[in-house]
Amino acid sequence: MKIGILGLGNVGLVSAICLAEKGYRVIGIEVSREKLNLLKKRRLYIHEDGLTELFKKNIQKLTFNHDIGALKDVETIIVCVGTPSRSDGSVELHQLFSCMKELKNLKTKHRSITLIIRSTLPPGTTRKKIIPFLKDSKTKFNIFYCPEFLREGNAVHDFFRPSLGVVGVENEKTEIKYLFDLINHDSIHFTTIETAEMIKYVNNSFHALKVAYSNEIATLAGKLNVNIDDLFNIFFSDTTLNISNAYLNPGFAFGGPCLTKELKALNYISIREKVRLPVLENILESNFEHIQRAVRLIEDLKPKNILCFGVAFKHGTDDLRDSPILKLIEYIQPRSSYLSKIRIHLRDKDSVLRKLKNNYIAVKKCSEIKHKIDLVIFASYAPTEEDEIWLKKHKTKQLVLYPNSTKKKIKDSNIFNLQINKA
Ligand SMILES: NC(=O)c1ccc[n+]([C@@H]2O[C@H](COP(=O)([O-])OP(=O)(O)OC[C@H]3O[C@@H](n4cnc5c(N)ncnc54)[C@H](O)[C@@H]3O)[C@@H](O)[C@H]2O)c1
Repeated sequence: MKIGILGLGNVGLVSAICLAEKGYRVIGIEVSREKLNLLKKRRLYIHEDGLTELFKKNIQKLTFNHDIGALKDVETIIVCVGTPSRSDGSVELHQLFSCMKELKNLKTKHRSITLIIRSTLPPGTTRKKIIPFLKDSKTKFNIFYCPEFLREGNAVHDFFRPSLGVVGVENEKTEIKYLFDLINHDSIHFTTIETAEMIKYVNNSFHALKVAYSNEIATLAGKLNVNIDDLFNIFFSDTTLNISNAYLNPGFAFGGPCLTKELKALNYISIREKVRLPVLENILESNFEHIQRAVRLIEDLKPKNILCFGVAFKHGTDDLRDSPILKLIEYIQPRSSYLSKIRIHLRDKDSVLRKLKNNYIAVKKCSEIKHKIDLVIFASYAPTEEDEIWLKKHKTKQLVLYPNSTKKKIKDSNIFNLQINKA
């Protein structure tokens, strides 16, 4: 089978050579004459361990060209052109659209072509820009967005054993069998094009955050006479809460007696030690902004009567210290004139209700509620079966501040999910 590759930079060249090693005949298209001349002289312009050997071994299966017309009898084309940053951080799509223009005018023998885009693109680019751009081409393009996860320095290894295989599909019914072979992963995640585009940004920003976070911690630890190797080895050994997906499920803001207090203490120590730690300094601000997002969401709904299930900082406790839910309702209650009329009905454990001042209406049973509820907030208290019956009868808008509305999940989790269900 023949494959065309557009763009022979780090990604395109490694892909071309490794696909040839897998047995494909590959035609690489590159605009740079300088790069093409080197390839024609059998010389590589990038260094990757093992690449030169594979290049020499598979030279007969590789051709390189300046002209996209060389792809006239190719049914599968992989796009690997560069998508560099502009000075404002936006992504320069010039290379991408120059090759889309060429693809649109490609004189091909085939009625349809499988187009696999591997360049990193901001979410929405494929559906909003590329698909409409290619729509009126004579050739039908079956488009897949498949992010590339290879790391420079390990590119050959990562090509054959990528950490992740992701395929964004426009239409679930499209034929996709041989993508498993092209992407080298036997457990590919098939998802929407936007999710496939976004995962690359999520992975790389998380990797960057891990580097910055560990460097800040090590910098502070170094000032405090802490053994940094021991510190990190102990940290890594906790695979339940530290090196795991714990605390990584998106949800509502954090709170409670420890997280905020410990962050404040670290920030205080860093000021005392004259070390700037911007990642650690901004975590509380990020958490505050997450509460404000929920406040704005509620303000937009203009409710007069709210029923809130749980105000403790998480499920399974009656601890109100630094509770983000309590903060949320404290922010919304006394606000502007229409909001000042908000009545908050609280359904919670007796021990929680006893701790609160009188500006909430304590609810022991939903059937006691006298006002028409406009919004139900599900937070740290799981509704009883009786509450569920009442909720079914009184359909209303709902704001969910935990991961899932099933009781089992609430019990298992201390994380809150922000989503709104319209009645
Ligand atoms: N470098 C990496 O390790 C890596 C890893 C994963 C994903 N990515 C993504 O993959 C894409 C490619 O990255 P890269 O590092 O290989 O980029 P690169 O800039 O090294 O290579 C892009 C190549 O495309 C060529 N090109 C530009 N317009 C062309 C056209 N119209 N036709 C044919 N060739 C054309 C350029 O001359 C260049 O050689 C980017 O979107 C990047 O973000 C890169």
